Amino acid sequence: MTTAQVVNPATEQVVTTVELVGEAETDAAIARAQHASAAWREVAPGDRARLLRRFAEAVESDLEPLALLEVANAGHTIGNARWEAGNVRDVLHYAAGMPERLLGSQIPVAGGVDITFHEPLGVVGVIVPWNFPMPIAAWGFAPALAAGNTVVLKPAELTPLTALRLGELALEAGLPEGVFQVLPGKGSVVGQRFVTHPAVRKVVFTGSTEVGTQIMAGCARQVKRVTLELGGKSANIVFADADLEQAAATAPYGVFDNAGQDCCARSRILVQRSVFDRFLELLEPAVRGVRVGDPSDESTEMGPLISAAHRERVAAFVQPSTKVAFTGSMPEGPGFWYPPTVVLPGAPTDRVLTEEVFGPVVAVLPFDDEADALRIANDTEYGLSGSIWTRDVGRALRVARGVEAGNLSVNSHSSVRYWTPFGGFKQSGLGRELGPDAASAFTETKNVFLAT
Ligand code: TAP
Repeated sequence: MTTAQVVNPATEQVVTTVELVGEAETDAAIARAQHASAAWREVAPGDRARLLRRFAEAVESDLEPLALLEVANAGHTIGNARWEAGNVRDVLHYAAGMPERLLGSQIPVAGGVDITFHEPLGVVGVIVPWNFPMPIAAWGFAPALAAGNTVVLKPAELTPLTALRLGELALEAGLPEGVFQVLPGKGSVVGQRFVTHPAVRKVVFTGSTEVGTQIMAGCARQVKRVTLELGGKSANIVFADADLEQAAATAPYGVFDNAGQDCCARSRILVQRSVFDRFLELLEPAVRGVRVGDPSDESTEMGPLISAAHRERVAAFVQPSTKVAFTGSMPEGPGFWYPPTVVLPGAPTDRVLTEEVFGPVVAVLPFDDEADALRIANDTEYGLSGSIWTRDVGRALRVARGVEAGNLSVNSHSSVRYWTPFGGFKQSGLGRELGPDAASAFTETKNVFLAT
């Protein structure tokens, strides 16, 4: 069996070695999931709900170890990692409310009765990236399980540890064998098998737009259902009438959280021209003040990047010719560090404006009026998230309606609440996760006519 070393990105030390599953083991797991599916779909909704609640309670009792594991594996700050483990618990509790609420309908017809049912799909494959290993996994597996499907989960090769622990917790909570399995392995082997194996009826993929398009093309061969959560290049739009102090003080959080390895990162800050210089003056101390360092230290606000290779990719966005306005700090010594960096882009075609950096690099640029702000904000193939800062409520809603993105916030950088829908426009994705309809995305609607 092949193995992979799991490395702590803050120390570059090996944390542990994980055995990677291959194609034969993946097929065996899918067969187990298919077998388990027959019984799981027949479990009474209330009993399925109870098992999901027990799973949530098992996560609750393991919150701190899960958070510490993520600090060691992904370099997340301890504060973020605690939020992420708590999010898994909350998503499971929320999903536990779904089995009894997947209501069908009865439609008036002549000569009989017409009923609709929401049938589970069967086996669902969930493929997760390394940037938020716990929550992104739960957003897929929790509603899929609630709707009566079985799940095979592939964590990212770099960050398998918390997913493996969640697999153990599911069994400890009493989920039957085969209902939820975690398969650490390569995307090109395990993930690809989810796409090609006919018994996997849906693939939920979160990751890069590049791999997402390959997955969609592969799934199309079997008309397999897909949900895609992909990249982003979101805009943080600051109007002259905004609370500039607040907008500048929070802008680092909007882009540098999780070291910028966040699909919702507001990596373009658009500032109305009349307050552009003032905003930069306010932004500079906020950026210089971001505490970058040991992620297990309670006061740390930003940790390292995930790997040396990823740091190289991020650094390539900042060329000697790039106009850097200012940077924050970073520790010396081992660890995949990169400082918070603010750049003033040149042409609209500058890579830092068109491509997802997925690191702590933000471009700041001016706009003239609402129309100009919308033109720049929408001048991207992505459409995931964004923020609007203004005191004018009418403008806030006009601009929010005009931005081509799935998740917007006004005078805030909050993007994710497990009870509201989340997903992207354009090449940021397909379908929605979370929110009240999350379980419906894992069902087929069946219509039955019964002649009387
Ligand atoms: P990817 O390289 O796309 O990898 C994501 C996952 O897909 C990993 O588990 C990977 O496995 C697997 N994979 C790779 N190639 C595959 C293939 N041919 N078939 C099936 N699975 C395959 O992305 P990443 O670099 O890990 O994550 C960063 C990207 O994710 C960014 O673009 C970011 O915006 C996006 N993201 C989006 C969201 C939402 S919600 N829209 C949230 C988080 C991240 P390996 O680990 O083995 O490579």
